[in-house]
Amino acid sequence: MAKTIGILTSGGDAPGMNAAIRAIVRAGIKAGFDVYGIKRGYKGLIENDMELMTVGSVADIIHRGGTILKTARCSEFATEQGLYKAIESISARNIDALVVIGGDGTLKGAKALVEKGIVCHHIPATIDNDLGYTDYTIGFDSAVNTVLSAINNIRDTGMAHDKTTVIEVMGRDCGDIALRAGVAGGADAILIPEMDMDVDEMCSIICAGMERKKKHHIIVRAEGANITLDMIDEAVKRRTGEETRKVILGYLQRGGAPTALDRMISTLMGVRVIELINDDENSKAVAYAENRVIEIDVQKAVDIKRQPDLELMEIAKALV
Ligand code: F6P
Repeated sequence: MAKTIGILTSGGDAPGMNAAIRAIVRAGIKAGFDVYGIKRGYKGLIENDMELMTVGSVADIIHRGGTILKTARCSEFATEQGLYKAIESISARNIDALVVIGGDGTLKGAKALVEKGIVCHHIPATIDNDLGYTDYTIGFDSAVNTVLSAINNIRDTGMAHDKTTVIEVMGRDCGDIALRAGVAGGADAILIPEMDMDVDEMCSIICAGMERKKKHHIIVRAEGANITLDMIDEAVKRRTGEETRKVILGYLQRGGAPTALDRMISTLMGVRVIELINDDENSKAVAYAENRVIEIDVQKAVDIKRQPDLELMEIAKALV
């Protein structure tokens, strides 16, 4: 049956969001649906700011970072009044199902809508990879590769000047970006929020390197780690007499072209969500697990706690 659907991107942008939008719009139109693109996430939903998408409106976006629908963090949506306005827009446009693309906050927003009787599917997209219900979130691989390329460059200059550099990466309370990029980039120490590290332990790693005449070190710090940039600097200075260089990568990790992996997973998830809507499924959170796209109920997805990959941390420590 012909349906009307709405899609939005919400929270921090992630490379691959555009590829997901493209897949949903094109597969949706092929299925005979009317597809509304909602602007600036839940904010646009509250303001009824949306327009009908066409096959052409998603042309030439598969390779672009950011999101053509724009995104926002919207505190009003967390209020009863905001939620009520959003539901009014959904009913004014006769939307049968919503697809929300984003991270943790976006998933909680989906749950709030589902509790009010709205059909709302979630596609996980955040560079942080911090959702418990899926092994993978769209944008993570692209962000890790961006960090990796920064580590490579910093290694060149650090080696040339015999310097220790601390690279701070994003991830909020999750250390996955630091861990993956740190292991792939051969970092000497990786600091993540899920595993507190002692400053002395970190310094011992650096001193052990110095004993074998190594003079440049790379420390990757996740923004949520217990040891701050200043603490690292002080400790390294105390033990080695050398200052550290500090590089905060910040928002550059969120932009840039999505990797092949992000484009693939976005595309597969986008196509899957249209199948779910076609089959009149209840609200689902689409996930990637054991190399395939699966889905679980939105309400269940919210409650699943993330299990950090601490084995990888042990591997990282064993290799310095
Ligand atoms: O969730 C993505 C993320 O980039 C986190 O890694 C970071 O902590 C946060 O968003 C930054 O948030 P904002 O965009 O509000 O500055």
